Amino acid sequence: MADSQQKNIFGAVLSNLIRKKNPDEFLEQSKEGGLRKTLGAFDLLILGISAIIGAGIFVMIGSAVIGTNEHVGAGPALVISIALVGIACIFPALCYAEFASMIPVSGSAYIYTFATMGELPAWMMGWILMLEYAIGTIAVASSWTGYLIQFFKGLSFMPESLQNPPLWLVNDYRTAVEAGASIPHFLGIPVCMNLPAMFIITVIAFVLYKGIQESANFAKIMVFVKLLVIGLFIAVGFYHIEPSNWQPFVPFGAKGVLMGAFVMFYAYIGFDAISTAAEETKNPQKNLPIGLIGSLVVCSVFYALVTIVLTGMVPMDKIDLHAPIAHAMSYAGVGAKGLDIIQGIICIGALAGLTSVLLVLQYGTTRILYAMARDGFLPPLMKKIHAKFNTPWVITILSTVLMLIGSLFINRDVAAELAIFGTFTSFIIVCIGILILRKTEPNRPRPFKVPCCPWFPILGIVFCSVFMISAFTEVKTSATLFPLWIILGLVIYFLYGYQSNRREVALKLKPVEEEQQILSAKANDV
Ligand code: ALA
Repeated sequence: MADSQQKNIFGAVLSNLIRKKNPDEFLEQSKEGGLRKTLGAFDLLILGISAIIGAGIFVMIGSAVIGTNEHVGAGPALVISIALVGIACIFPALCYAEFASMIPVSGSAYIYTFATMGELPAWMMGWILMLEYAIGTIAVASSWTGYLIQFFKGLSFMPESLQNPPLWLVNDYRTAVEAGASIPHFLGIPVCMNLPAMFIITVIAFVLYKGIQESANFAKIMVFVKLLVIGLFIAVGFYHIEPSNWQPFVPFGAKGVLMGAFVMFYAYIGFDAISTAAEETKNPQKNLPIGLIGSLVVCSVFYALVTIVLTGMVPMDKIDLHAPIAHAMSYAGVGAKGLDIIQGIICIGALAGLTSVLLVLQYGTTRILYAMARDGFLPPLMKKIHAKFNTPWVITILSTVLMLIGSLFINRDVAAELAIFGTFTSFIIVCIGILILRKTEPNRPRPFKVPCCPWFPILGIVFCSVFMISAFTEVKTSATLFPLWIILGLVIYFLYGYQSNRREVALKLKPVEEEQQILSAKANDV
C-alpha cells in the first residue's frame, strides 16, 4: 500500500475515534422528551444523599480503619482521610455542575465526554462507569448480606442456620476459600454463592424492569431513615466512647491515612447522580451547585462524626468488617437489652439505606448502557423498550445476569476498589473535559461556571490522581483487574463499537448524500 494511502486510512480512523457529538444534538434529543423543570435545591440534596450514603459508611469504614490483607488502614485518623476526600470531591463536583448546567441531559459523564473528546473516549467513559455502577452494585449487595446476618443474630428466635449460615451460601468463592469454608461440589464444580446479595440484586432488577416511578418516593423515605439511624448511632455511641481507643491515632502513618481516604472515597460515590437530574432542575445555575456541594458537606459531617464515635467505642482490632456500625452497638452494650434493640434498628436502617443505593446504581447501569446502545456502541437489541412498562428491559435482564455472575467471583473489597478506580478516572476525565470545553467553546452559555478555572479542575485532577497512584501499589488484585478492564473495553470497541458506529454514521449521512446526488443530477439535466 502506498504511503499516502496508509496515511489517509490512518487519518480517517483517527478522525472517527475523536468524532464528537455537538452538545446541541444532546439538547435537541432531550427536548423531545420534554421533561418538566420541577426540582429545587432541596430535592437535589435528597437525591444526592440517597445515592451517597450506603456501603461506604455502613461497611467499608471497617476496612478503612483496620486495613485488609492487601493494604493498611488509617486507624482513628480516618477522620482526617474523610476531610481530605470531602475536599477532593468538591472540585469534580463543581465541574459536574458546570457540565450539567450547560448540557442538562441525562447520561452524565458519558455524554460530557462525547461532547468534548469524541467517540472512543466516550465509549471508554461509559465502560469505566460500569465499574462504578455495575461492579459497585456487587460491593453494595454483598454489604447488604453482612447487615442481614447481623440482624438475624440480634433476633434470639431465629434458627441457628440463619444466624450463622454456611459460609459457602453467603460469600463469593474467593472470600469463602480465604475463610477456610468447606465448599460442596456439584459435578466437580465448587458451589459457592452470596445468596442474599443475589436475591437483593434480582429484586431491584425486577423493580427496574417494571418501572422506577414508585421507587423515587421510596428513595426519599430511605434518606430520612438512613440519616435517622446514623444520628441514632452517633447520639447513643457518644456515651460509650473510651478515649483510650483513639491511641495510637495514626497507627500506619501517612500511608494509612491515604489508603483510608482511598477506601472511604467509596462512601462519596454517587453525588454525580445529581447531574443526571439537571434536565429537570429549576434554576440550575443556583440549584445544581447547592445540591452537589450541599450533599457532600452533609455527608462529610455525618461521616466524620460516625468515624469519631466508632473508633472511640471499639478498639481497632475489635472492629467488625461486615457490619461495623451495628456490631459496635453490641460490643459496647454486651448484655444491655436497650443497645440490642438499637443494634436491630441500625441493621434495618442500614439494609434500607443499602437498598436505596442499589436502586440508584442498578438504575444508572441500565440507563448508561441504554444511552450507549442508542449511540450505536452496543447491539440494536439492547435498545429495545418494553411495550407496557416503557423500560429498557433487554439491558435490565442482561446486566442483571452479568452482575449475578460477577457476584460469584468478585469479593466485596475488590468490587469496591474497582468502583473507586473507575470513579476516580471518570472524575479526572470530567475535569479535563471542562478545561477542553472552555478552550473550544468559550462562548457557549454556561448557567454555572467553575470558579477559579483552570485551577479548580486542575486541583480535581491532582487530588484524584494522587489517591489513585498511592493505592495502585497497595491493592494488588484490583490494581491488576483495572488495567485488564480497560484493555477489554478497547478490544470490545475495536471489534464491535467502531464498526457499528460507522454503520450508524453512514445511515445518518445517507439522506444528505442522496439529496446531494439528486441535486447534482438535476444540475446536470439543466
Ligand atoms: N456511596 C455509595 C455507598 O457508600 C456507593 O454505598
